[in-house]
Amino acid sequence: MKQTTDFLKMKETGEKISMLTAYDFPSAKLAEEAGIDMILVGDSLGMVVLGYDSTIPVTVDDMVHHTKAVKRGAKNTFVVTDMPFMSYHLSREDTLRTAARIIQEGGAHAVKVEGSGEVISMIRSLTNSGIPVMAHLGLTPQMVGIFGGYKVQGKTAEAANQLILDAKMCEEAGAFAVVLECVPKQIAEQVTAQLNIPTIGIGAGVSTDGQVLVFHDLLSYGINRVPKFVKKYGDVNSVALESIGQYILDVKNGSFPEESHSYSMKNEELIHIYG
Ligand code: KIV
Ligand code: NA
Repeated sequence: MKQTTDFLKMKETGEKISMLTAYDFPSAKLAEEAGIDMILVGDSLGMVVLGYDSTIPVTVDDMVHHTKAVKRGAKNTFVVTDMPFMSYHLSREDTLRTAARIIQEGGAHAVKVEGSGEVISMIRSLTNSGIPVMAHLGLTPQMVGIFGGYKVQGKTAEAANQLILDAKMCEEAGAFAVVLECVPKQIAEQVTAQLNIPTIGIGAGVSTDGQVLVFHDLLSYGINRVPKFVKKYGDVNSVALESIGQYILDVKNGSFPEESHSYSMKNEELIHIYG
């Protein structure tokens, strides 16, 4: 299993880091079997698994519950779990207690937190306590109410300079990596060049040290619209619809189950049954 130090080494040697979200036993098992470097139990589960409109309603209990399932499916992969909305802002004590729960009870190897500003001091407290932290800058979906939607961040020179500063502060605070979401590729390249820790991009161009995608986006699984930055590598929707549709037809016309799906008993037993 790769560790935080291995991801640092990968940046140094130029080996790209592959990261994918997973939310349950089968998705984690598939990600590990395929050879993914790192799994993210993202709070995106609120949208792609639980059907909410945003990540805001996701609770710490949700994150712990799904992390446990992921860990059962991927025993040999580094697992990062998102700290959900408002779970790392109230107080230092509250933040540490919640992160400890995600690590001890959930079994995650690291936590991820969104944003800069006051979050920087939380990153420092967490890493000082022995909890590896992944930072997340650019489009931070837990700020959707402030952003007024999901928009590309860091497009002006001023915003871009702030993003570079924020990334450096995350590194200084002890973060082992930083996710850059929906930022111009030029800015992601700048941040990647200026940091010692790896950058993991999503909608941030090809120059970051790694990439992360949402499991259901990559596979077109249960969702119909994906952002511009997603590449569709599979089409689970059409496989599932075709299979379920065929099953319904077969049930209706009696062609399922077939002989091979049925159990039987011997005739000499059968003659003693009087219905
Ligand atoms: O929750 C999530 O899936 C994420 C990734 C998009 C980085 O935070
Ligand atoms: Na997230």
